[in-house]
Amino acid sequence: MNNVVKTLMDHRSIRQYTREPVDENQLLQILQAAQAAPSSINGQQISLIVIKDQQKKEKIAELSGGQPWIAQAPVFLLFVADYYRAKLAAEKNNEVLVITDSLESIMVSSVDVGLAMGNAIAAAESMGLGIVPIGAVRRNPDEIVKMLQLPEFVFPIAGLVIGHPDGHSEKKPRLPMKAVVHDEVYNTETSRLIDEYDDTISAYLLKRSNGTDQRKWSEIVSGLYNKVYFPKVSPVIKEQGFKNL
Ligand SMILES: Cc1cc2nc3c(=O)[nH]c(=O)nc-3n(C[C@H](O)[C@H](O)[C@H](O)COP(=O)(O)O)c2cc1C
Repeated sequence: MNNVVKTLMDHRSIRQYTREPVDENQLLQILQAAQAAPSSINGQQISLIVIKDQQKKEKIAELSGGQPWIAQAPVFLLFVADYYRAKLAAEKNNEVLVITDSLESIMVSSVDVGLAMGNAIAAAESMGLGIVPIGAVRRNPDEIVKMLQLPEFVFPIAGLVIGHPDGHSEKKPRLPMKAVVHDEVYNTETSRLIDEYDDTISAYLLKRSNGTDQRKWSEIVSGLYNKVYFPKVSPVIKEQGFKNL
């Protein structure tokens, strides 16, 4: 296994950080790696807001439902879907921006964000830094839009906490590969594999929590997906100019 694959396979989310700052040159390389990711039509439908200001990080930690690691770590990157530059390009060429009237625009920009964030994660982890993605920036997207002065056709997709890990974290086991990787056609017969993974995650959580948490994977997922957990996304994304979502 080469070093890149080793870094990828060794990933774990970190939720405890030291106060040590991230070296500026390392941060620059993480941002360059993010920007080097492929993007649909080379449209580069993302922007990154680099946040180091302590008060802002504390506010984002609170807006994200109380996630102290956001304030604790020195750097927070906000990844946004971005068609603002596409709008400027349209104006420059006397064209109309129509893609943002379709769900397709969200798929395109969310994939771009995912790829850029994946690169940033790999770069940071290859330097021994810790990370945790933060989807909960979409809990109060109106406040994030206001605080970071996001213009029309820009919407927060996810954040990334970056810092120096404080202590050791165990890798979280994944679903059995047969439940995720299908051979030629989709295999719907995965109930038994879910039972297997329920036991794996339950044992993992029991150890991680010193005996206080032994929830199963299916229990956690179904408990989160029995509602739209970030209901403000739909109204706020429309306020940002996106339509038909
Ligand atoms: C898009 C995305 C959003 C996430 N949002 C949060 C979050 O708001 N808070 C958090 O603590 N972890 C968040 N996570 C981290 C996941 O919980 C974590 O990746 C998952 O449990 C697997 O664990 P691992 O990363 O340690 O392997 C997020 C991950 C992704 C990819």
